[in-house]
Amino acid sequence: MSTAAASSTSSAPDFARFAIGFDHRDRARLHALIDEVLDSERWSEAAMVSRFEAAWEAYQAAPAVALSSWAGGALAALGFAGVEGETVLCPSNTFMATPLAALHAGAEVRFVDCNREDLCMSYASFEEQAERHRPRAAILVHIGGHIAFDSERIAAYCREHDIFLLEDCAHAHGASWNGRQAGSYGDAGVYSLYATKTISTGEGGVLVSGRPELIDYARDFRNYGKPGFEVRGLNFRMNEFTAALGLVQIERLPEIVAWKNEVARAHLDPAYPNRLELPEGMTSGLYKYVVFDWLERSTGRVYDELCHRIMGHDVTLPNSDWAAHNHSCVPLYYRPERGDRE
Ligand SMILES: Cc1ncc(COP(=O)(O)O)c(C=O)c1O
Repeated sequence: MSTAAASSTSSAPDFARFAIGFDHRDRARLHALIDEVLDSERWSEAAMVSRFEAAWEAYQAAPAVALSSWAGGALAALGFAGVEGETVLCPSNTFMATPLAALHAGAEVRFVDCNREDLCMSYASFEEQAERHRPRAAILVHIGGHIAFDSERIAAYCREHDIFLLEDCAHAHGASWNGRQAGSYGDAGVYSLYATKTISTGEGGVLVSGRPELIDYARDFRNYGKPGFEVRGLNFRMNEFTAALGLVQIERLPEIVAWKNEVARAHLDPAYPNRLELPEGMTSGLYKYVVFDWLERSTGRVYDELCHRIMGHDVTLPNSDWAAHNHSCVPLYYRPERGDRE
């Protein structure tokens, strides 16, 4: 199978070379926004963060809190859930950030297996572990940029059994299923804006939630619990310059996701019949383009080292083991016309 679909078609855009998901047509606007911050004499806790949050809310139709990282949002959500001394369920097929956030929030972590079809948490394994461990919270990770296929069933179980559900949306910018976005299934969703993500501010994160009391908690948490110090937070504030970049990025996100999907349909799907197939009505943000082949020329696996092994947990997760050895990611980076650069 061709691993160089990008170069095999002369008219194909050059999407196989790494590029940060930034549209260089946004440079002038970004510079103007940064000038605004410079002129404001307020480089933190001011208007640009509020504008960024409002833009994210407009995109997602849910209240949003900007933070300096995904980690800050996850710690805020888990602190709100009261996981200290309790158990948190977590997939093993994820980045170590996911279980580490639970550990730092004072919880014990128990690992759950994934499905082979979507690489995300399996309802059957989740239910089994939930019955056994009676967790206070669970973290559902939308691995690769699509919505976890079992999201609805896992969320329903959590609602019924009073389990706090945190969605790790670090990969899921632009993902939706029948119009429902990542971050809207559980009590909270947290996005990462780290440098390799679909949209990025270099470092940053956004927490979304339909629960107003959780939004208030996260706002206090990112700022040492100010003003009342009832929340035991730390500094996870996003600064004003980062928020300026975030503002142009969130406004550009729909176009980035549409572009990646168009390129995938036109140039990758014909070359990779053994790809991860989405259910009806689902759009992936295509953080990763996953195929169930072992490709030599790829960006590697989403994860090939499972968290339960890194942490030395004695648990058998056959689908996670299978997934780690039976997929590859085909490079797909946002590269629209870059007239002002080239
Ligand atoms: C699945 C997942 N969760 C969490 C994170 C952590 O994000 P951050 O570095 O913004 O804290 C990442 C980032 O790479 C990730 O891929």
